[in-house]
Amino acid sequence: CGIVGCIGNKNASDIIFNGLKKLEYRGYDSSGIAVVSDGKLDIRRSVGKLCNLAQLLKEKPLHSDLGIGHTRWATHGKPSEENAHPHTDPTKSIVIVHNGIIENYIELKTKLQKEGNVFKSETDTEVVAHLIKKYYKNNLFEAVKMALKDVRGSYALGVICKDEPDKIVCARYDAPLIVGVGKGENFIASDIPALLSYTRNMIFLENGDIAEITRESIKIENAAGKQIERDVKNIQWDAVTAEKDGYKHFMLKEIFEQPRTIEDTLKGRVFPDEARVYVEEVKIETKFIKDLSKICIIGCGTSYNAGLVAKFLFEKFLRVTVEVDIASEFRYREPVIDNKTLVIVISQSGETADTLAALRLANKKGCQTLAVCNVMESSISREAQHVIYTRCGPEIGVASTKAFTGQLTALYILALDWAAKKESLSKDVLKEYIKELWSIPVKVGDFLKTSDNVKEVAKNFSAKRDFLYLGRHVNFPIALEGALKLKEISYIHAEGYAAGEMKHGPIALIDESMPIVAIAPLGDVYEKILSNISEAKARGAIVIAVASENDKEIKQKSDAQIYVPATSELFSPFITVIPLQLLAYFVAEVLGKDVDQPRNLAKSVTVE
Ligand code: G6P
Repeated sequence: CGIVGCIGNKNASDIIFNGLKKLEYRGYDSSGIAVVSDGKLDIRRSVGKLCNLAQLLKEKPLHSDLGIGHTRWATHGKPSEENAHPHTDPTKSIVIVHNGIIENYIELKTKLQKEGNVFKSETDTEVVAHLIKKYYKNNLFEAVKMALKDVRGSYALGVICKDEPDKIVCARYDAPLIVGVGKGENFIASDIPALLSYTRNMIFLENGDIAEITRESIKIENAAGKQIERDVKNIQWDAVTAEKDGYKHFMLKEIFEQPRTIEDTLKGRVFPDEARVYVEEVKIETKFIKDLSKICIIGCGTSYNAGLVAKFLFEKFLRVTVEVDIASEFRYREPVIDNKTLVIVISQSGETADTLAALRLANKKGCQTLAVCNVMESSISREAQHVIYTRCGPEIGVASTKAFTGQLTALYILALDWAAKKESLSKDVLKEYIKELWSIPVKVGDFLKTSDNVKEVAKNFSAKRDFLYLGRHVNFPIALEGALKLKEISYIHAEGYAAGEMKHGPIALIDESMPIVAIAPLGDVYEKILSNISEAKARGAIVIAVASENDKEIKQKSDAQIYVPATSELFSPFITVIPLQLLAYFVAEVLGKDVDQPRNLAKSVTVE
């Protein structure tokens, strides 16, 4: 989601609308603006892209020099006018915009409902508006501060109050928020591009900061409640660089977003302290899980590869048969499915025609259907009987990266949830897996700090015309995904293969002109893949190994090494896929290809 706010002497609604346009890449399923005018709040909200809000503002303009606005990427509650931001308290005296996830919103909402509050939306945000009102005693700053003490989760918040028409209060925790410093006017926004037309002087709020912004002043308190000064930075970026957060391409930005998107997908669903998993939105009965005859997983492209990883999990955790299908094949092979089959469709966009057709077939055959999807209210998320959303935000780069790890996260969550329900994993094992799942965002973040090493490897190998990616077990699908990434954006021929299968064909191709990328983290099949590497090297292959950081042996066996943080084998796909995304990116970059919009491809393929 994107937030913009301003207080000054010009028409706030124009400034906010222009700012939101620059943030549309952060989400675009609904939008809204609120201002304080003549002692009351005035709000305009509309569903869909910003042009709809523009039309509404043309018909019913807003007049004020103080306001806040929002462009939404739905996470709680479908895109509708009721769920669009800004949200108010019941008396319409406080209005807020929010980006992030309030993890304990159900708990807070239930409490507020018992106290007589009536809610108008399904969002987690509205709860915060009610809370601020509850604590409000003629001091907005203090009320926000008290409300945030009750809140758990991530937020960038902008708040205004009809009774204090000279200020915006804002706060940040684990969601970006900046303050733009002007002359006789000040601003807030989620991101730099929203404000570049008005000021280049910006303050980057830190986690736990709460700020009070007036026309002439900016007061900031840190998490400890101490008033502090934060540096004002002068931003030199041009507008296009700014939208990409300073990254050269959306794909690179999205690769680097993964620690956050994985964490967001886990939040409020997996609780490591209590060793508990709770997926509020998926209401499949425990009895159905226990009686399942089969799980069919369906997707296209990268989403299909995520499904291939999931097969290992569901089989291991639930001891149930799992089939994985490419969506365009599924419907034409007369699949044996019935009302004891669970069909899981995976789709970032929720609009892929083949996947949608497969879902419709499964619905028709009486299966229970569940979608793993990134886009709320997309066709697939509407037609599936159950949905778990990945919380990755809009993915702009055509080559999917953060959506893949988001899908893996959702699938691991489901596997653990159902294993707990079926009692097919012991409590101790469950606890250990939950802990390991929560360690992933940090490990991904740690690896990303070493991305320069991958860049070096990419430079050394970018002139090659063919690559073979090898992996075993859960890393076989990662070999497929790595090869797919390279093909998609660098137009270099690449094949993913099960390492053990190499000797049955591809070995004939091996010579020094075709590098092998071997995914070889430590684990049960490590020795096996080392043997496959030796077989290849004996035929003159050049091997790039993706290996665990504590692996002492791999250096002697391979020509180049990319080390990743150690994990158990079962969780390694999260970590091994990242270097492969980066390798593809850097190779394409060296070759000067159009990384974000590769030729012939589309982000969402809505034809069969
Ligand atoms: C297209 C995209 C791929 C994506 C596939 C499935 O081919 O270029 O990146 O993996 O569609 O898309 P979906 O939105 O269903 O995950």
